[in-house]
Amino acid sequence: MNYKLLAASLIIGAGTLNAAGQADPLRFDPDNFTTGSLTMPDGEQVAYKAYEGLFYVRNIEDSTYQTLNIYVPEKMADINRVPILLRTYVGGYAASTAKTPSATDATGRALKEGYVVCIPGSRGSNSTITRDGKTIYTGTAPNGILDLKAAVRYLRYNDSLIPGESELIFTDGTSAGGAMSSLLGATGNAPEYEPYLKKMGAADARDDVFAAVCYCPITDLNHADMEYEWLYGCTNTGVRHLNEAQISISNELAAECPSYINSLGLKDKQGNLITADNYKEYLKGFLIESAHRALQEGCEIPDSIGLSFYIDKTGPMGGPMGGPGNGGRGMRPGNGERRPMGDGRQAPSFGPGNAPRFNKTSDYVTGIDLDKYLSYVASVTPLKTPPAFDQMGVLIPTPSPENNVFGNENGEAANFTEFSLRHRLDDPSAKLSKEMEKRVYMMNPMNFIDNEKSTVAQNWFIRHGAKDRDTSFLVPINLATKLENAGKNVNFFLPWNRPHSGDYNLDDLFSWIASTLK
Ligand code: DHB
Repeated sequence: MNYKLLAASLIIGAGTLNAAGQADPLRFDPDNFTTGSLTMPDGEQVAYKAYEGLFYVRNIEDSTYQTLNIYVPEKMADINRVPILLRTYVGGYAASTAKTPSATDATGRALKEGYVVCIPGSRGSNSTITRDGKTIYTGTAPNGILDLKAAVRYLRYNDSLIPGESELIFTDGTSAGGAMSSLLGATGNAPEYEPYLKKMGAADARDDVFAAVCYCPITDLNHADMEYEWLYGCTNTGVRHLNEAQISISNELAAECPSYINSLGLKDKQGNLITADNYKEYLKGFLIESAHRALQEGCEIPDSIGLSFYIDKTGPMGGPMGGPGNGGRGMRPGNGERRPMGDGRQAPSFGPGNAPRFNKTSDYVTGIDLDKYLSYVASVTPLKTPPAFDQMGVLIPTPSPENNVFGNENGEAANFTEFSLRHRLDDPSAKLSKEMEKRVYMMNPMNFIDNEKSTVAQNWFIRHGAKDRDTSFLVPINLATKLENAGKNVNFFLPWNRPHSGDYNLDDLFSWIASTLK
């Protein structure tokens, strides 16, 4: 019997009672499970034990969402310490129920690898209960992240009973869920959340995690509008077709961005300070690396979207090539990490036609015309109009998902930046309340990375598609860079030709997970 089973039998022997002799509602019962199995894409059957509908707080406000499911593979990984994948399905900052695992995403893959999976539900912008005949919105910020932190605490609290190591929790989510994952990674044990978690009756345990996997995190919400306009402003009169009022808002927002960039004090891998003046070169480096790796993997990229290439004219496939924009930082072939295709990711390919013929051993990407590339991104999926996030009441009345999640318990959406309040057509004198400032602060992982009071995850896997326009490239780049500057183990990449999506290229993700366990 291993130490976990021994501890489990001692606790069960005590009848899962708490100190006062009452049944403990947060105590996990290892014997209360059903069984199930997944058929993986290759036909393999992955059998598991399912523990479903477990409440993770004592003071349940919303029984639809404040539950979690745990799946334990029949064949546990043959390693000393088995990790737990905590996958949130939060999207659009809405509520999310505890789901069952899927053969085609990271949950199924984790079970196949012999890892334990936890899928918590959480309240969100649209979750409601009826109290005294009144509809109450239960999931406005920061309640969603509080629920997910309570789920982490539940895993720790029951460490001796739940298979897998609660010291090896990997959080995973996409988009708003990617933002939640980044918050779980950045805000471990941060005192700001403590009074709320106590009030909810969360388990008395730590809530820091080992690793955060964040696909296209829609985060840094109080700077996301300026970051969007600073980057995409170059398309305003072109592919974006903005009207005069929109251009004016776009320009004003963009003008606020340089001081924000400079305030971050970020450094590149060589230790050079990144400022608003050199930021675009920094961004180009990531895009060039992405394009280069795609070419190495056999994908074709036309030079019409802003990239230029060095094509060895002496080689067997050589020929004069290379569009405008030469002079960017070149990347020698072989720097890209080679990976097999056919691993669940959408194959990055453009039609042949005008694509240069690329020789993997001698050719490389020399540069990128950023404005041209951004216009290309905007031509694939129309950009958001300014302000992209805190939009309600500025030029249009419609609330964004972010306005909704910062709303109140009556379901009224709210602005969350000084800028948008100042530009409201109805009441430009409205001010950001102290309470709203605090809620916005608690929803931004950037505030906790170099914050001594929070325990930041040591390991980070961050992806944002190279043609994902749901937020500015600055958002994931700043997050990854700030973490790297804080000494964290960060695996960051902008996968080529990838739109807003998550849990792709699972071979890549799971080999990274394995690497962090060594
Ligand atoms: C999501 C996408 C968005 O563009 C956004 O602003 C918020 C959330 C999402 O897919 O979760």
